[in-house]
Amino acid sequence: MPPLTSAQAAAPEEAVAPLMRGIAVLRALSEAGGTLSLSDLQHTTALARSTVDRAAATLAVTGYVRLDGRQVTLAPRLMELGNAYLSALRLPALLREPADRLAEELDESVSLAVPDGDAIRFIHQATRRRAVSLSFRIGDRLPAERTAPGPLFAAAWAGEQWQAWRTRQAGDPDGAAFAFLPPRPGPGEDAFRARTAAAQADGWALDDQLIEPGLVALAVLVPVPPGYVPCALSVVSHTSRHSAEELRERLLPRLRAAAEEMAGRLVAAQDGPPAPAAEELASWTGASKQDLGPAFIESLARGLMVVTAFDGGAPLTLSEVAHLTGLPRATARRALITLDHLGYVRTEGREHRLTPRVLDLGYPLLAGTTLSRLAEPHLEALSAEVGESVSLAVLDDGLVRYTARAATRRIMSVDIAVGTRLPAYATSLGRVLLAGLPPAERAAGLDAAAVRALTPDTLTRREDLRAALERAAESGHALVDGELEAGLRSLAVPVRDRDGTTVAACNVAMHSSSRTVEACLDQVLPRLRDTARRIEADLHTAERFVRIARH
Ligand code: PHB
Repeated sequence: MPPLTSAQAAAPEEAVAPLMRGIAVLRALSEAGGTLSLSDLQHTTALARSTVDRAAATLAVTGYVRLDGRQVTLAPRLMELGNAYLSALRLPALLREPADRLAEELDESVSLAVPDGDAIRFIHQATRRRAVSLSFRIGDRLPAERTAPGPLFAAAWAGEQWQAWRTRQAGDPDGAAFAFLPPRPGPGEDAFRARTAAAQADGWALDDQLIEPGLVALAVLVPVPPGYVPCALSVVSHTSRHSAEELRERLLPRLRAAAEEMAGRLVAAQDGPPAPAAEELASWTGASKQDLGPAFIESLARGLMVVTAFDGGAPLTLSEVAHLTGLPRATARRALITLDHLGYVRTEGREHRLTPRVLDLGYPLLAGTTLSRLAEPHLEALSAEVGESVSLAVLDDGLVRYTARAATRRIMSVDIAVGTRLPAYATSLGRVLLAGLPPAERAAGLDAAAVRALTPDTLTRREDLRAALERAAESGHALVDGELEAGLRSLAVPVRDRDGTTVAACNVAMHSSSRTVEACLDQVLPRLRDTARRIEADLHTAERFVRIARH
């Protein structure tokens, strides 16, 4: 038997131990920055090695981690847990657009936060690109007393919440428990109480460099209608642009107007259709016991599936959770008891809700990913499978720019570095990317290109190029043979975002002697399409509530 942790010792009798252990593994990985070896996981979680191995194997089957030899890494798919929370909250989907618009208008960063115990939790960030830029992400948690939204939320605290705050302050005065927060003492109770009283009277609150020197923020509450959790709208700036006082003088009226407009949207949405329900049931539910392997711990996978059941709807009853997951009532009940015990679910009477703590399961970390980082493991897998180099590229000013790549170690292999820019018209990547543009832009892209013969085979006549793009658009792939360089054959397919817009292309490049064109289409194309689908699945999960950079 593994040693009991304090959480397990205090756990209710019906709590599911493998679910608690699996979550402990996810938390350890999140706290360690996303990757740990199996033996480091064993040490940080104090679980038995065999337990860690089985939990990691199970989490790999559910797609929540990647196993690379002995390394365990959080995978983008894990964001579906946090997505379930954000979706059930409804605020991000409804307020994201006006928040982004406000950031644009003010040319300052804007964020949305909700209360989380004695802390605040970001549920949206509209960040401006600046040299001095903010690094808070969706899912990050900050101590209430060092933020602008904190005093606004604390105005509603009862005695026991102040007591919890005092206990945390006493145990961790510098806020060391908060990831990414520069540790230093926050204001004491008198100062925080005074700010809270002022916030209640004035309806706004300032953070004058309480997080870190230079950082200033102004927050107001969004006057949410009943049924929504409290939400604060902040504008965040730097003392090099505004002092805290100036921020209030100049931007408070605009911030208040934006908060009112947001409230209007929430009211309107109350009469509208409910949010769309969960995207789909976990993929492993369709797999056979044999596919899942002997290490698979069903109770862990099922417990995490219960979290995803909350996607799309507000509070759920036990019957609803059982219905949505297809789990037996008793199984769903024990999972809910476990998640409630660990603080991921809050239960009031017969109703269960997810809590913002769900975002501690890797969300801010994974929210910082980019398209190329997310694609890399998939490119590696394909490269190993077909024995050729595989790349990802985007359209950049009429050229294709390589953003990620997995190379093989053959003597004669195609060697094109990340960052390389090549003419779009003569490459398979470029043809797929141009084919993905709306027709008018597609034509403009061709017209703007300085088309010239790079080899005797390069298509240079406009009508030939136009026809090649039409074929690529229709078939969903492009094969280019010796048009960029003699002997170089390349096959590409598009990578599309949630809206179906082509945002990148993925290709396999090989020497033309390595396969016939037919073999290329028969053997390589289906695998390449599969790779693009995997990249897309990760991208679609990651970008549901987060803007994922395309580089
Ligand atoms: C932020 O959105 O990054 C932010 C908001 C309020 C603060 C500090 C930072 O007090």
